[in-house]
Amino acid sequence: MQFRTTSAARTRAVAAALEPLLEPGDVVLLSGDLGAGKTVFTQGLAAALGVVEQVTSPTFTLAQSFEGRLRLHHLDVYRLENLGEVLDLDLPELLDDDAVVCVEWGEVVIPELPRDFLHLRIRLADPDEGVDVRIFDIELVGQSWRSRALAVETACISGAEAAPC
Ligand SMILES: Nc1ncnc2c1ncn2[C@@H]1O[C@H](COP(=O)(O)OP(=O)(O)OP(=O)(O)O)[C@@H](O)[C@H]1O
Ligand SMILES: [Mg+2]
Repeated sequence: MQFRTTSAARTRAVAAALEPLLEPGDVVLLSGDLGAGKTVFTQGLAAALGVVEQVTSPTFTLAQSFEGRLRLHHLDVYRLENLGEVLDLDLPELLDDDAVVCVEWGEVVIPELPRDFLHLRIRLADPDEGVDVRIFDIELVGQSWRSRALAVETACISGAEAAPC
């Protein structure tokens, strides 16, 4: 499944449209280059969950937690050298918290995931198409996400076409 957004606001709108589908314990992995929009997506998700604090890229901490409709654990594992450091994150504890776990640069943790996850791969479109265009490839891993495929697709399309704000 693939879609595009043409602005940061629309990427936030996609995240907001996906938020009602999130259940306790869900894991969202975000991959893509620097500046692809992983944090922007997480900000949209957090706002829709009712988080009032500003979500930023955690520079000195690897994980930040926020309270909302569901608790949100935001991890950015870009700076991690190896899997050992991921394990030091107490990942199992975060996964076992009935929260939503959102991981930027998430591929490194895939071997440690005991469960299904939603994987969003974001990349910049060719500059000819517009500098603000982002291409999202969505992979639904596991039965729990596959069973939500239609709802996910509908949410992504509606968010990507949301009125610019
Ligand atoms: N369609 C779009 N979707 C998301 N962000 C966009 C879009 N168009 C432009 N942008 C801009 O691209 C930048 C995305 O930055 P963001 O911090 O979210 O990237 P990131 O993937 O988290 O990078 P990093 O790997 O450094 O954490 C922001 O400045 C945002 O305004
Ligand atoms: Mg980021």
